[in-house]
Amino acid sequence: MLIRKLMEEDLPAVLEIEQQVYPFPWSRQIFTDTIESGALLVVVEDGQRVKGYAVLSTGGGEAQLFNIAVSPDSQGRGLGRELLQWLIEQAKQQQAEMLFLEVRLSNQVAQLLYLDMGFNEIGLRKRYYRCNGGGREDALIYALQLQSENYFNLS
Ligand SMILES: CC(C)(COP(=O)(O)OP(=O)(O)OC[C@H]1O[C@@H](n2cnc3c(N)ncnc32)[C@H](O)[C@@H]1OP(=O)(O)O)[C@@H](O)C(=O)NCCC(=O)NCCS
Repeated sequence: MLIRKLMEEDLPAVLEIEQQVYPFPWSRQIFTDTIESGALLVVVEDGQRVKGYAVLSTGGGEAQLFNIAVSPDSQGRGLGRELLQWLIEQAKQQQAEMLFLEVRLSNQVAQLLYLDMGFNEIGLRKRYYRCNGGGREDALIYALQLQSENYFNLS
């Protein structure tokens, strides 16, 4: 598996996965706006097909994971974990001290992954996500501390 920067040619495959895994998928415009905003968009591929992707934004000593998804037929094989580990290293290299993300309250699979990777639940946004049928669902906010010994490092 190879993790690399997303290229424009990857967008159709990414959009196809996005539509398969989310009830309210990002549009092509949201992806291109996100690229223009300076966020890092990466894909994981097996040499032939894009299997997953993620969107990470860093700045001001913080990182935000805006999106992470694996194609339904490739889920449960370690790709999400591999991608997230790669992004954590990337955020550390960018000197981010914390990595934040939001996740639907009902998304237990993703939450198990985040908890297993060392994230802590730090808050809740009430009625943050839209739901099919018109309702709203809370978002949990997770955070991972990336650098713990920076505060007294004067070198
Ligand atoms: C969340 C997601 C990215 C995880 O990717 P994945 O490749 O399926 O996950 P992995 O195979 O790396 O599994 C990592 C961990 O997730 C959890 N997990 C994965 N699939 C699971 C399942 N079917 N049931 C329960 N836990 C599961 C487990 O903790 C697993 O660790 P383990 O294999 O040591 O038990 C993927 O399920 C996905 O794309 N979901 C839809 C989009 C989404 O919800 N994104 C997150 C938005 S916040």
